[in-house]
Amino acid sequence: MERVKGKVALVTGGASGLGQADVLALAREGARVVVTDLNAEAGQALAREVDGVFIRHDVRSEDDWHKAVGLAVSRFGRLDVLVNNAGIVVPADIESATLEEYRLLGAIHGEGTFLGCKYGIQAMKANPGGPSGSIINISSLSAVRGFPGVITYAAAKGAVLAMTTTIAAHMREKGYGMRCNAILPGMINTPLLKAVGADTLPGLGQPEDVANTVLFLASDESRHMSGAHIVLDNASSIIGGGA
Ligand SMILES: NC(=O)c1ccc[n+]([C@@H]2O[C@H](COP(=O)([O-])OP(=O)(O)OC[C@H]3O[C@@H](n4cnc5c(N)ncnc54)[C@H](O)[C@@H]3O)[C@@H](O)[C@H]2O)c1
Repeated sequence: MERVKGKVALVTGGASGLGQADVLALAREGARVVVTDLNAEAGQALAREVDGVFIRHDVRSEDDWHKAVGLAVSRFGRLDVLVNNAGIVVPADIESATLEEYRLLGAIHGEGTFLGCKYGIQAMKANPGGPSGSIINISSLSAVRGFPGVITYAAAKGAVLAMTTTIAAHMREKGYGMRCNAILPGMINTPLLKAVGADTLPGLGQPEDVANTVLFLASDESRHMSGAHIVLDNASSIIGGGA
């Protein structure tokens, strides 16, 4: 209990699936949580449940990022944990995918994570007591394994991985005492998976499996871990399985 006591966390896409599980786990372990999402109804209800705050936030919008990070600082005085989790998937292979889809996925996952890291670091640098914080980027197994049916998603999640590596190196070089890591989940049972008809596959992970890893990365238990790419798929990818 209280593994992240006193920390302030912001979770994007916090109203559903993995983000919702992250919010519940972080709050249960003592963090004050800013829930952000496009879905205001579900986000507000969850924020009430965990005694946190909600702000409607499109991760593609630089202005929204200013407001969301600003809310964490104005309401709770600091930002310690940022989970860049919001996302969608559009199933299509390289032959059927459109440029519009590529740009949409790039905007949500790539630009959203870029802006989150940029403004997250700015807030974490200004934390009372000096720079500190942990950024957790939700990438995907599809960034490093070949799943032909999600080309635009895989490309966008690959950008998330590359940013994680580069930002972790930047933080170390600057001596900020901040960390940036990525989680690469395999298939996890959430509404997103249902949307692509994969929710009945055997061996799916549960949102709590990802939330437990988020909790570890958010806490000081992982203080020596930065730049990591954590595959979370119960070995499915090394035995050639799907989920
Ligand atoms: N479920 C899986 O199998 C799986 C596997 C690997 C990675 N992921 C990643 O995990 C993250 C969460 O996925 P999930 O499965 O919980 O999906 P989900 O659909 O249950 O939740 C995603 C949330 O993100 C929000 N969102 C979408 N676009 C947004 C935007 N532009 N700005 C702000 N919020 C936005 C949605 O409203 C929703 O609440 C995503 O980045 C997804 O790509 C999921």
